[in-house]
Amino acid sequence: MERFAVQTPLEIPVMSATRFHTFLSHNSADKPAVEELARWLQRDGIQCWLDTWHLIPGALWQPAIEEALDVCDSCCVFVGPGGIGPWQNEEMRAAIARRVQEGYGKFRVIPVVLPGGKREPRSRLPTFLAATTWVQFRDSLAEKEGFHRLKSGIRGIAPGPGPGQALFEGECPYRGLQAFQPEHAAFFFGREARVDWVLEKLRAGFGSLDETRFLAVIGASGSGKSSFVRAGLIPAIQQGRLQGSDQWPIILCRPGYNPLEELATALYGNQTIRDAMEGGVGKLMDRFLVEERELHLTTKTRLHGHPESRRAVIVIDQFEEVFTLCQMEERRRRFFDNLLYASTIPGGKTVVILTLRADFYAKCSAYPDLALALSENQELVPPMTPEELRRAIQEPAYLSGCELESGLIEVLLREMKDQPGALPLLEHALHELWQRRKGRRLTVAAYHEIGELRGALEQQADKLFDALSDAEQDACRRIFLRLVQPGEGSEDTKRRAWRHELGDTAIVDSVIQKMADARLSAASQNVASVTGNALAGRL
Ligand SMILES: Nc1ncnc2c1ncn2[C@@H]1O[C@H](COP(=O)(O)OP(=O)(O)O)[C@@H](O)[C@H]1O
Ligand SMILES: [Mg+2]
Repeated sequence: MERFAVQTPLEIPVMSATRFHTFLSHNSADKPAVEELARWLQRDGIQCWLDTWHLIPGALWQPAIEEALDVCDSCCVFVGPGGIGPWQNEEMRAAIARRVQEGYGKFRVIPVVLPGGKREPRSRLPTFLAATTWVQFRDSLAEKEGFHRLKSGIRGIAPGPGPGQALFEGECPYRGLQAFQPEHAAFFFGREARVDWVLEKLRAGFGSLDETRFLAVIGASGSGKSSFVRAGLIPAIQQGRLQGSDQWPIILCRPGYNPLEELATALYGNQTIRDAMEGGVGKLMDRFLVEERELHLTTKTRLHGHPESRRAVIVIDQFEEVFTLCQMEERRRRFFDNLLYASTIPGGKTVVILTLRADFYAKCSAYPDLALALSENQELVPPMTPEELRRAIQEPAYLSGCELESGLIEVLLREMKDQPGALPLLEHALHELWQRRKGRRLTVAAYHEIGELRGALEQQADKLFDALSDAEQDACRRIFLRLVQPGEGSEDTKRRAWRHELGDTAIVDSVIQKMADARLSAASQNVASVTGNALAGRL
């Protein structure tokens, strides 16, 4: 245990003789491993309740366990090679019941996979265990990362820097209507368990014929798909949470009007891949059109000579643009063919991850190979649970050195209840609250001032629209009609437009800029898009 001696000491209160930091629930077959961990935890100041140490021989088991859980602040559920034992199941149920009764953050249940142990499929676990992050020892109990996560879980803090250690003092930690990007990963909370499960899926069968190299992240508009992939999955891959994945090239693009061009350009933009491309973007596009193996061959050639475990990850965000923006059937098909060949051919090096709006799911079924890949490898992104939302609200505030006035979280959670599509509104409101913070504090008064969850966005849109001149208001209407594609039986679709489509005048430019400044639209040099529908009501 020398290797843990350098860890910083835990700042946890010293327990009285009758209280424990954690209860260790395990299958008796795993006792040696659990006892070993318990000794290490004790050495770091964590008081563990372990049956062999604390159960009085001959005592009635059930009441003794319940009493024990009462004097513990958390419960670790260990899953070893033998799975979860029947007694352990009872302990776990009691622990979960207690956790539900006590509410968020009070009593923690921490699932821990021991070396040789396997998580059950998510659908077979109690919902709560599927929705929490797991501690995993992959090959050995001596893995530092696993032990660090275990201690953090017992202490009830995030394994990264915790509250009180403001790392991003003064930086706005909320994204308003914009999706989170890889560089915002530190502020991205609430989806940790889901990231974990998806990594697990990609890890299973890695290097074998069963390797999964295709994943579609599906969900309603605004459910957080792009953020999940950009600020959750991509950073996890970059941190090396898959085998050697800190060295994997990641190529991110959106299909846009010409998916083959976007893909070729994005590949060219990656230094690692560019070196293997002969003839630049134009040539690659041409080859995509005639050869479905082209993408596979490009990455395979480039990664030749690299370690066996190296992969190239192609992330296609807003995949629905293949239907909303791309009007060329041949290119669309060729785009699909290349992505599917590369991500399914045995021995391939390409991992394809895409995000797709659920209302375009049916459209994909017209393409049999795509339909098959989607059916087998998808992750449906549901609305965040109240606990996940709580983390998404409070953790970023702590990290930026702010605090939330008491009661504010409860008000926000109450309004989010049964509002599955309200995540963008919440993030927008938080962004506004942060702008209006009093000292370090985000306040309830400011929340009422901005018009609460729904009003906040409308107020912003109204303010912007009213401040425009007549000519600008006119331009604003035209821009909007271009940027929103009315749905036929489905929701309206946000779309992107080339700047020149909107009329290349100074007025259009100034309106787009004002919309972007108010965070109601995203504008780059050539392209504009709307991020909220609040303005639509005024047009
Ligand atoms: N984990 C999260 N915590 C807080 N806000 C989030 C989270 N994920 C997404 N959001 C916010 O929700 C809105 C929609 O996110 P986005 O990723 O663009 O969704 P989608 O791609 O499904 O349309 C954005 O305002 C974004 O900032
Ligand atoms: Mg998106």
